Amino acid sequence: MVNIAVLGYGTVGSGVVEVLKTNLDSISKRAGKEIKVKYILDIRQFDDEEINGILTNNIENILEDDDVKVIVEVMGGVEPAYTYVKRALESGKSVVTSNKELVAKHGAELLRLAREKNINFLFEASVGGGIPIIRPLNQSLTADEIFEITGILNGTTNYILSKMKSDGMDFDTVLKKAQDKGYAERNPEADVEGHDACRKIAILSSLAYGRHVDYEDIYTEGITKISQEDIAYAKELDHEIKLLATSKKVDDHIYARVCPMLLDSEHPLATVNGVFNAIFVKGNVIGDVMFYGKGAGKLPTASAVVADVVDAVKHVERNIMSIWSRKKMDLMEIEDVPSKVFIRVAYDSYDDAMATVKELFDVKHIVRLDELDDEFAITTEPMKEKEMQLQVEKLTNSKDVKEVRNFIRIES
Ligand code: HSE
Repeated sequence: MVNIAVLGYGTVGSGVVEVLKTNLDSISKRAGKEIKVKYILDIRQFDDEEINGILTNNIENILEDDDVKVIVEVMGGVEPAYTYVKRALESGKSVVTSNKELVAKHGAELLRLAREKNINFLFEASVGGGIPIIRPLNQSLTADEIFEITGILNGTTNYILSKMKSDGMDFDTVLKKAQDKGYAERNPEADVEGHDACRKIAILSSLAYGRHVDYEDIYTEGITKISQEDIAYAKELDHEIKLLATSKKVDDHIYARVCPMLLDSEHPLATVNGVFNAIFVKGNVIGDVMFYGKGAGKLPTASAVVADVVDAVKHVERNIMSIWSRKKMDLMEIEDVPSKVFIRVAYDSYDDAMATVKELFDVKHIVRLDELDDEFAITTEPMKEKEMQLQVEKLTNSKDVKEVRNFIRIES
């Protein structure tokens, strides 16, 4: 038998205990040993007597117990998770976590510590909820040189954008639903402003390219400016609007960014709706591969955590995760990244506004919607971010234009 401790009895922590209980026999068979939850760390009391019986609010009880071999950290946030995880690893206990903030900030250091101790620091559930993506990057795709990872990595925002489109619902109503379903972060700003997806693409990029990609270097923009009008234009253009987290190799440089993008309806990520996440990977040998599944929610995330617990139990004294170097990756300046862009322009005089637009942009398409009679939209040929921002500013300040209502980059 192997004893484990679960730090945090929230949505994911209670899911982990539930999965271990429901599938006890099959999980034990796969792990080769029975897995027993000896402690749950939480400051609250619960209605369940069985849970209260193993509850502690003192981390020392867990760290000092030599019978505990694996610690599951599902508290979220950097502190005190980082201190607890570091101390657990230092004392020779493997750690499994779903905590993307922790992995994005301290992953390289904690992996190195686990390797030094010949134990494991596993974090499959930190990206893509129930989708296996860390293990494939760490094991199955190691023959490849990866040159692109593009993902829908946040279930809450994908759920919001999908519902806004399918049911015409407004942003706040759908966000409330996502919170009720347990998809959203405690502070949903982390979802809607793109920070959660940013940390996840930093983790995937660090693993794929082997060097530490600092999430603070990644250009990040959320979905709060996306409106029903933008969605109507996207439909007219046969595109979807998705919050994409991307890292791509251009020549020898890598850029990374998170922002809402217009995606051709033929793109494999365009049909990923609701709470589902998907990660599209391009390798020089394998070509294109895509991973798809539920990216948030109690049981999908718990499923990934428990799978890591099984791996940790099977490899009690053998380190299995490859290391990502603590050396920082210098990302390409976002200003130099080229994209096509979609721009909505409101006018008093169509002819004057269009003449200015054509002076400033290499226009590819012009789109009009019957219901919006004081504006038009254009799509452009690829242009560097810096130039695009500059021209949008000039357009905004032009006397021939009432306002620039929104602009959205186009994935290509
Ligand atoms: N808030 C996150 C999401 C949870 O919506 O994807 C899973 O990391």
